[in-house]
Amino acid sequence: MISTLLSQLRHGPDGDPTPRLAYGADYNPEQWPREVWEEDIRLMQEAGVNIVSVAIFSWARIQPTENEWDFGWLDEIMDLLHAGGIGVDLATATASPPPWLSTAQPEILPVTASGETLWPGARQHWRPTSPVFREHALRLVRKMAERYANHPALVAWHVSNELGCHNVYDYSDDAARAFRDWLRARYTTLDALNHAWGTAFWSQRYSDWEQILPPRLAASHPNPTQQLDFKRFSSDVLKDHLRAERDVLRELTPGVPVTTNFMVMGNTKGMNYADWAAEIDFVSNDHYVVPGPQDRDELSFSANLVSGIAGGRPWFLMEHSTSAVNWQPINVAKRPGDLARDSLVHVAHGADAVCFFQWRQSAAGAEKYHSAMVPHAGADSELFRAVAGLGQTLKTLAPVAGTEREPARVGIVFDWDSWWASEQDSHPTAQLSYRQEALDWYSALLALGIRADVVTTQTELDRYQVLITPVLHVMPAPLAKELTRYAENGGHLITTYFSGVVDENDHIWLGGYPGALRELLGIRIEEFGPLLDGETADVDLDGVDGAATGTLWTDRISVTDPAVEVLAHYRGGTYADRPAVTRRPTGQGSAAYVSTRLGTDGLTALLPKLLAPAGVHSELPDGARGSVELIVRRSADSRYLFLVNRTDETVPLAGVSGDLLVGRTDDDGTVVLAPRDVAVLRQPAL
Ligand code: GAL
Repeated sequence: MISTLLSQLRHGPDGDPTPRLAYGADYNPEQWPREVWEEDIRLMQEAGVNIVSVAIFSWARIQPTENEWDFGWLDEIMDLLHAGGIGVDLATATASPPPWLSTAQPEILPVTASGETLWPGARQHWRPTSPVFREHALRLVRKMAERYANHPALVAWHVSNELGCHNVYDYSDDAARAFRDWLRARYTTLDALNHAWGTAFWSQRYSDWEQILPPRLAASHPNPTQQLDFKRFSSDVLKDHLRAERDVLRELTPGVPVTTNFMVMGNTKGMNYADWAAEIDFVSNDHYVVPGPQDRDELSFSANLVSGIAGGRPWFLMEHSTSAVNWQPINVAKRPGDLARDSLVHVAHGADAVCFFQWRQSAAGAEKYHSAMVPHAGADSELFRAVAGLGQTLKTLAPVAGTEREPARVGIVFDWDSWWASEQDSHPTAQLSYRQEALDWYSALLALGIRADVVTTQTELDRYQVLITPVLHVMPAPLAKELTRYAENGGHLITTYFSGVVDENDHIWLGGYPGALRELLGIRIEEFGPLLDGETADVDLDGVDGAATGTLWTDRISVTDPAVEVLAHYRGGTYADRPAVTRRPTGQGSAAYVSTRLGTDGLTALLPKLLAPAGVHSELPDGARGSVELIVRRSADSRYLFLVNRTDETVPLAGVSGDLLVGRTDDDGTVVLAPRDVAVLRQPAL
């Protein structure tokens, strides 16, 4: 369906059939007097904008009271945009209910675990399980679809906005009722639920479905499987809302693709997007950089994961920022070059659209200090010039539109169930960060100049020669079988501490850790050895210069299969001289285990050893490894190499060839990357 979107984008008013990348923003004309609109369209054209998302937070304006509708302003802006050659990704406008609705129907308001109501005054104050909210929202969706079905500016539907951004966990009575229905569908009988939740523990046995509640504020740790199921349920009910809106849109406008903007970024973990992706016609994502030592690695990781969720097909970057945001404790502006570099990393990982929040920086409201394409300073500004410059670059990159990401040889598996379960309370350590561990592996591969795909457990895993599964904690039996088969058939599996420990009900696989992976790995662990804050475990990388330092976790490993090779030892401490990293050859492949948190530096030192049996090496020239990220998109006849300078130094790229679409060369014709610069080269397909 992404091709439908692209073909609609291609049919601008001039009917130009050439592919193009989409460029634009959330556009909130209702915040501005009418006279600003004409200037907006003119500046959009100047910047190369060809799509905007409209009406995201317009419910109160479109439906000022229950039985009053005001579409006049929206008709006018849709017409103006169309006349200006700009397509519209039209929101269903249901993201934030208007005051008349929350006043008349306060039962739509979400409730926290401790019973507090989340009142109106901000946004997204609705319960995903409220039948009253659903009815009002779908009425609005129907009105929008009926009104704009045939509007020539309409290129896509934007369901709600960032579903679950502020209301993912609701503990209200509506949620309790819906949770019970969800549990009935999952378990059928109370006996099955009692077994799955392990309710023999602490006298929690249920004798009636009505006794079951969401994990509200309790006297001590709530039942862990109840917590895990509530997370699954909360993701599912938002997905259900997405489907309900989508079904109305498909009924009334069957030819218009439907999307909703995901939030694959940082620690946003409530929504299982791997499971949502099949519900929409193309995947969209919002991403914001949170400054820190791995900030751009994190950007690349997120974009990469979105591509994994989209099955390697093109996707849509719905929001990111031109410069500062407003919601961090300190909101720093982007440096020169960051705007283009950040955008192009998303494109490299498969984005066929680069959009921002938002077009014109607000003069009032909670987001007035959030950057935009047109800043408070106006169009005569460095920022707007950078925005227009990026518009030009995206025009040059038009041939990339519609191409797929070329698969790497290394895959990193990212799994929502394991993310949710591994970070629950009452565990060996409360300091474990699932996403950070995955990001550290990714950063280490970037440091070695090795391409990797971040993929989900729904992906065809056999296409990777090396599969890294950091903290793959939840291991249903079929997944353990699949990984075993993967390694036997020639794949090289690398996993870490706290993997394979529990089944889908969060029950321990008995007999020693790592439970379901014990045989495959040829090791056995009787007790975990988490480290206290500040405590470290030196690791001897056996044959590699220098030592690595483990934090967070150690394991007392016994090798149970003589074929197991010990790749690294603990050097001192409780487990001195015992294995820290192991590898067991199996069938045509192998299965390796890393028992401590080595961080990016330690993993960078260890990885060459782990990758050796697969023969995976960097594709970058010597001098560029570590400084440059390489990402490849491809079509039937071309490969597009995106080379991203990860550093603040100039990097020459001797030996890299192809037609230079974006970037510069020195006098000898060598491609040179200025600090934070990106070059794009086209090569014939392999
Ligand atoms: C997103 C949201 C936008 C805007 C933006 C600011 O979460 O969808 O409406 O609030 O953040 O960074």
